[in-house]
This record gives sequence, structure tokens and C-alpha cells, in this order.
Amino acid sequence: MDEKILEIKNLSIEYPISIGIVQAVKDVSLDLHRGEALGLVGESGCGKSTLGLSILNMVRPPGKIVSGKIVYRGKDILSMRDREILKIRGQNIAMVFQNPLTSLNPLFRIDRQFLETIQQHEPDVPKKDALRRAERILDALGIEQKRLYEYPHQLSGGMRQRIMIGLGLIMNPDIIIADEPTTSLDVIVEAGFIDLLNKLRKEFNLSIILITHNLGLVAEIADRIAVMYGGAIVEEGTAEQIYHDPLHPYTYGLINCVPNINMDQQELITMPGNPPDLVNPPPGCRFEDRCPYVMDICKEQFPPLLSHRDGQKSACWLYKEKEAAPWKS
Ligand SMILES: Nc1ncnc2c1ncn2[C@@H]1O[C@H](COP(=O)(O)OP(=O)(O)OP(=O)(O)O)[C@@H](O)[C@H]1O
Ligand SMILES: [Mg+2]
Repeated sequence: MDEKILEIKNLSIEYPISIGIVQAVKDVSLDLHRGEALGLVGESGCGKSTLGLSILNMVRPPGKIVSGKIVYRGKDILSMRDREILKIRGQNIAMVFQNPLTSLNPLFRIDRQFLETIQQHEPDVPKKDALRRAERILDALGIEQKRLYEYPHQLSGGMRQRIMIGLGLIMNPDIIIADEPTTSLDVIVEAGFIDLLNKLRKEFNLSIILITHNLGLVAEIADRIAVMYGGAIVEEGTAEQIYHDPLHPYTYGLINCVPNINMDQQELITMPGNPPDLVNPPPGCRFEDRCPYVMDICKEQFPPLLSHRDGQKSACWLYKEKEAAPWKS
């Protein structure tokens, strides 16, 4: 799992609006390895989707990538021409969005949507072969082949979501970026969807970026987790490190907010305060006004994301090398 397939380097993204500049993503660096599932978690509005869209240079106006690089197989996507990016989009890196009904064309049967996707990248493929490929993907997704000849409205929400994954996988990509892919699914279908992603990941050696605010979901699949807060990555580590030994006070708060069926305490711990306003944010740590461990430096200087121990990184002024989290002492 050592081959780095994608490197995000010092990426910053802004949305200029009438009252100022929204700093939606601030100096984010993140790697993805082959066959790895990376979870990107954080509260609503912390910049997850903006970061996800930027990977294929798809941030919507007025959003602007103001600095940074997205290196895919040694080449910076952000300096590629549109034609080159279009080739990568779909063929090498696929995106699956939240709502499959808005991403599938309601006027066309599913077979046509597969055909168009395949022929866009491989115009010479005979229709028969393309359909055979679509049928094989449906098999892998556990959907009957006859469904290929139906319209999106004839399928259930879970099936549509799987079809979206199928359209993403049909060109055999290296990376799939799924942004809140299960929001419209019930828990049973959601569990099936996660099993499927895990199965496909092994079968196709896929790398996955799963964007969600659902920590439970990410626990089911992610090898590594990056926690975003206010446009920045505040902590990054293996799923084990993040759940059992978090370093950043925000991660600690987030983990303790999640209801757990085995909880012996009756009351949930809540995190007072709200996520920061990203319009012209103050210069220091974006969590400082909610942090129980705040110090003077936190209000003045933005903390960089630094390696702490065993690859676990945190962006917090509390730590010098290898110190334990304050709630552990
Ligand atoms: N088109 C836009 N114009 C102006 N600001 C925007 C635009 N899109 C996003 N933003 C702002 O950028 C910030 C990050 O938004 P983003 O949608 O990336 O967050 P998110 O983590 O995906 O949230 P959610 O969990 O709700 O999907 C927010 O402050 C949001 O208000
Ligand atoms: Mg989002």
C-alpha cells in the first residue's frame, strides 16, 4: 500500500463573496496510497466538498484555488489543460455525489448512461461490448442485468446509488471520491453499500476517498482518517489512532459526541460553540474559541499540521514531539 497515487500539496481555496472572502480550504496537504480508503470527516461547512471537488479541478465559481498542487501519478492536475483533465475524470478518478437522482439523467435508460460514459472515453468500442461491460459491473454490484433497461425512476434509492458507483467504476479507475454517498439511504442499504465498497476495493485495488460527517460510517471502511475543521486538516492518523488516541481537542470532542450503543454514561457529551465563520477568519487556530486548552499562541498563529508519533499528525500548539494528550494525564 506504499505507492502514493495522489498528493495534495499546500492547497488553499477561496470563495470571494460580497461581504469578504470565504477561506474554505486552508493550506491542506494530504496523500492517498494505492488500495487505501481515506475518510475525510468534519462538521458541515468545514470544506470537505470543496476539497473533494478540487481534486479534479471542479470547484464551482466563484470558488478559486489560490495556491497548491494536486499531483496524480507525478503530474499536477491543476496545471493540466481541460482536455487532459476530462480524460482523467471518469477514466482514472471517478466521483460519486450525494444525490444520485440529480446525477443520473432521468430521461435516459440506464444502458444509455453506461454507453455514453464508455463511448466518451473509448469512442470505437462496439455497443455490444460496451453493454457486456455494463452487465458485468451490474453483476458485481448485485443488481439484476435486466435493470440496465429501466429508467432511473424505476429503481430504488439504493439501486440508483449503486448504479452511480457502477458508472464511476465502468472505466476501471484508480481512485473513487465519494461525497456523502449514503445520505439518501436507509441504514440497511447503507450497510450493504459499505460492504460493496469494501469488496470492490479489494477486487479492483481501488483507492477511496470517503467524504462524510458520519464518523460511524467512516469507521466501517477507512484505513486512515483526516479530520477537517474550519477549512484545515486538524488531525490525521489511522482509524485506530483517531478513535482510540486522538491528539487534537476537536477530534477528541467529536469522538465523544458520537452516541454509542455500549455507552455506560447516560448523557452525551456536547461540544459548546459553533464552527467558525470562514469569511475573513482570524489568524490563529480556527478552533481556539471552542477549545478547553486554549493558549495565547492559539489566538495569534495558525498551527501547522505536524507529525507527532507513528505517522499521526495534528495541527495543535499543545504538542511538542511525542507528548500525550492533556486528557490522558
Ligand atoms: N459557491 C459558494 N459560494 C460561496 N461560498 C461557498 C460556496 N460553496 C461553499 N462555500 C463555503 O465554503 C465553505 C466550505 O463549504 P463545503 O461545501 O466545502 O463544506 P462541507 O464540509 O462539504 O459541508 P457539508 O457537510 O454541509 O457538505 C462553507 O463556509 C461554505 O459556506
Ligand atoms: Mg459537502
